[in-house]
Amino acid sequence: MRRAMQRFHTEPAPLKLRKPTLHSVRSMGAGQNAPTIPDTDGVNDMLQEAGQNATLMDVARGILDRLVERPELEVQVEEILFLKECLGSNLETLAMPCMLLQRDTGDVTPGGYDFLMTYTKQVNTSSSCPGTPGSRSRTPSVAFTRPPSWESLKSSMLEDFDKWDFDSFELADATKGNPLHFAGWKALDAFLTDQTSDIFLEMEKTTRFLEAVEDMYAKQGSVLYHNNVHAADVTQCVHALLSQFGFAAYFDQLSILALILGAAVHDMGHDGRTNSFHVNTCDEIALTYNDISVLENMHISKTFKLMHSDPSTNILDGLKTDHRTRLRKEMVEVVLGTDMSSHFSSVADFKTLIEKLGNDPREWHCEAKAMSALRVMVLHAMDISNPAKVLHISDKWSDLLRQEFFLQGDEEKRLGLPISPLCDRETVRFASSQVGFFTIIVQPTFALMAELQHPVKDVLLAHLQSNTETWEARKRKESADHSSPQASAQPAGVSRSDRSGSVCRTASRQEGSNNSLPSELRTVLPGVSSSRRW
Ligand code: CMP
Ligand code: MG
Ligand code: ZN
Repeated sequence: MRRAMQRFHTEPAPLKLRKPTLHSVRSMGAGQNAPTIPDTDGVNDMLQEAGQNATLMDVARGILDRLVERPELEVQVEEILFLKECLGSNLETLAMPCMLLQRDTGDVTPGGYDFLMTYTKQVNTSSSCPGTPGSRSRTPSVAFTRPPSWESLKSSMLEDFDKWDFDSFELADATKGNPLHFAGWKALDAFLTDQTSDIFLEMEKTTRFLEAVEDMYAKQGSVLYHNNVHAADVTQCVHALLSQFGFAAYFDQLSILALILGAAVHDMGHDGRTNSFHVNTCDEIALTYNDISVLENMHISKTFKLMHSDPSTNILDGLKTDHRTRLRKEMVEVVLGTDMSSHFSSVADFKTLIEKLGNDPREWHCEAKAMSALRVMVLHAMDISNPAKVLHISDKWSDLLRQEFFLQGDEEKRLGLPISPLCDRETVRFASSQVGFFTIIVQPTFALMAELQHPVKDVLLAHLQSNTETWEARKRKESADHSSPQASAQPAGVSRSDRSGSVCRTASRQEGSNNSLPSELRTVLPGVSSSRRW
């Protein structure tokens, strides 16, 4: 809406809708061909007359068509075409003809903006007129034009979506558990509204795709951290980094699309267990992907299988073949790049690139590998960005991850496997691990991002610094608690293999590979499989 209105206001040809008088607007309904902006009942009648498949868009188009027949209003043909284009791209602009009349009369007409918006809400929440999915290209039905709980969102939430301190937990509540649908929709806004672009996504397919992706994530209760809220959060973070921290300037539209879609799907199908767990239990995905980035391979493979299994979710259908090919390549690349096993090599490579090519990636374009490293770094950095959020949000993520790790530890115990670092609820020094994760993993990553865009330092690194201090204080308390005589009687000093009974062949493989890590890192990252590149 904002975009459409901006464009509307900056159109070179000024609107030639002669100001109708209040009387002329109110009398528009009189006479057989005289169009009117109907009220809710009127729209309902029109929809009923038109039959089951009619949508609110159809009604609005009908109104526009008939407005052309009102020479006394001097509505320009270009204006009608523009309004039609808006109707095809964004439900909110549906109300535009009403707003035009409303604005020009200076009066809230009975069939004005509010009526149509109210009506829109009714249609969205009722199943009486859902439209026919897939029956018209680029003509979305009302039921498919907005995330389901959009109307219940506070306007401040819509406005805050660009900001770093956006609260995805609040979004999850406000959308009644569908935050990814909303976040994906908002982040993809530019690709849904600019029909003139080569890279245009159909609204209906996009909403079906986002719904299906959200469905394939575990929900808040079942997997505590790697669920649809985390996916929505990372999508919002990528969006904020691109739009508010200047990173969009480095990429073309297709790469921006790859990053947003990559963020939305990057943990799809996650079961709350780490790569090591999958490898050590020799399960289906470890066998499928030969122990190499098993989760990440699964996330991105599921994504493309989803698109190809059902044409109604294939959002890339409308793109040119070469665009589709490149988009797939970039999505695969960025999602595989979220495997923590490549963290240190990604950061080292990225540092070398900055040293070699300078800190303005707009000058890196002839270096395909450098641009690829930058894309990977953007998604990976946002995936580990929870420590750089305001403390109360950061703490929630830490706690959810801690609990998810503990559930894995419980299962490892049940299965007689060695308990992964950070996963043993009886012995873990979680505060210490957080200090490690924040300082060894996250800080160097954001320090590099800040070399490209200084606001990263002022906002993300500032939060990170302050949160690290908080965790350092917690760590001191934790150490004191652990060194008390009572604590030393606890099983903290018992080695994992001593306590877990039998050690399977694959489990010892994990232990062996963890031993090759710098010792402080073994207590920071629990889930890095033997496929990592340290
Ligand atoms: P995932 O989201 O798959 O990829 C990034 C990983 O970083 C994430 O899984 C966790 O394993 C890890 N991670 C993210 N946040 C934290 C944190 N606060 N403490 C420890 N590990 C984290
Ligand atoms: Mg992941
Ligand atoms: Zn993730």
